[in-house]
Amino acid sequence: MQLAEIITERVRRVTATAKVALHEPCFRGRELAYVTECIETGWVSSVGSYVDRFERDLAAYTGAKHAVVVSNGTSGLQIALQLVGVEAGDEVLIPALSFVATANAVRHCGAQPHFVDSDEASLGIGIAALAEHLGQVAEVLAGVCRNKRTGRRIAAVVPMHTFGHPVDMPALLELAARYHIEVVEDAAESLGSTIGGRHTGTFGRCSMLSFNGNKIVTTGGGGAILTDDAALAKRAKHLSTTAKMPHAWAFYHDEVAYNYRMPNLNAALGCAQLEQIDGFLDAKRELTQRYLEAFSDLPHVRLFTERPGTRANYWLQTLLIAPELAEQRDAILAATNGAGQMTRPVWELLSTLPMYRDCASMATPVAQDLARRIINLPSSPQLIMGAV
Ligand SMILES: Cc1ncc(COP(=O)(O)O)c(C=O)c1O
Repeated sequence: MQLAEIITERVRRVTATAKVALHEPCFRGRELAYVTECIETGWVSSVGSYVDRFERDLAAYTGAKHAVVVSNGTSGLQIALQLVGVEAGDEVLIPALSFVATANAVRHCGAQPHFVDSDEASLGIGIAALAEHLGQVAEVLAGVCRNKRTGRRIAAVVPMHTFGHPVDMPALLELAARYHIEVVEDAAESLGSTIGGRHTGTFGRCSMLSFNGNKIVTTGGGGAILTDDAALAKRAKHLSTTAKMPHAWAFYHDEVAYNYRMPNLNAALGCAQLEQIDGFLDAKRELTQRYLEAFSDLPHVRLFTERPGTRANYWLQTLLIAPELAEQRDAILAATNGAGQMTRPVWELLSTLPMYRDCASMATPVAQDLARRIINLPSSPQLIMGAV
């Protein structure tokens, strides 16, 4: 049997389903009750008790002092970057291997992505390689880090916790501090993931979560900004709420801002979903065990598992094909999808997309290698928890 057929058969064995999606939302708690309450009371839009409650619940769950919910993760990252002072013309270090929103949020600030290579052990930013790169291209003068080649300020770095696998944040914080660079985490995929027991999204000065329909917890569409800084949280709320000065009836806005608020209807869904996250996390860990068993006798593929000292949420199950068989990736994707088992490759490197091709970039050999070898497997918690 060809590798593609063997993998298809093993995936099918784990999912035990003829047709399965990559990741589906799982509604088995109080979603309908909370959303119905919004409709019955008329509190469906941008203010309401579920918005306040979801912000409190997220802060309590992650251990962040403040959470501000927004319309989606992309808008949340844009605001988070603005909060730490990213301005038009700056450069922001981001992984070349990420979803396009990471780069788009930088551009929405008028700044430029500066692409960073990956680390094979975490799938996130390659910190040792970044340190070497900064040693060559960056200089710090009067507390400002500059790219000597482009003349631009390097204002921030955005680690992204790929598929829920945490970046080595203590090491990155140390490097960023050395270069006077702000840290903003793209924790879109890592709600429930921790490093030494501390939640991802609480290491940077600010961070962003996403509650898109495919995430571990969904609000339909939505996001949040996390920070321990009360002043930044207040400003996040202000910027995402059209910079309206609070008043019972007067409309006064003191700067150009955004309508990036999360409606109460969506926050209601989020509250009900967050109540169930422990069950989702358990199901995903059990699914990892089943995939590990199913692939244990195949020498040419490896299921990606959490690094020691970290706990991954296993948002998307990730298979790595051996480098010498990487050219079989598309055949595996075709065979699995053809058999109703939805799999997908990782994103095209952002540094190769037409709008980002000309941006600053370090050499990205690890990211290029990973991009050829990653396949995401069906990951819904229902595969363990069963249909509702
Ligand atoms: C790594 C990453 N960054 C940013 C986003 C953007 O989040 P959203 O779709 O909520 O705008 C996503 C998810 O969609 C993501 O996976």
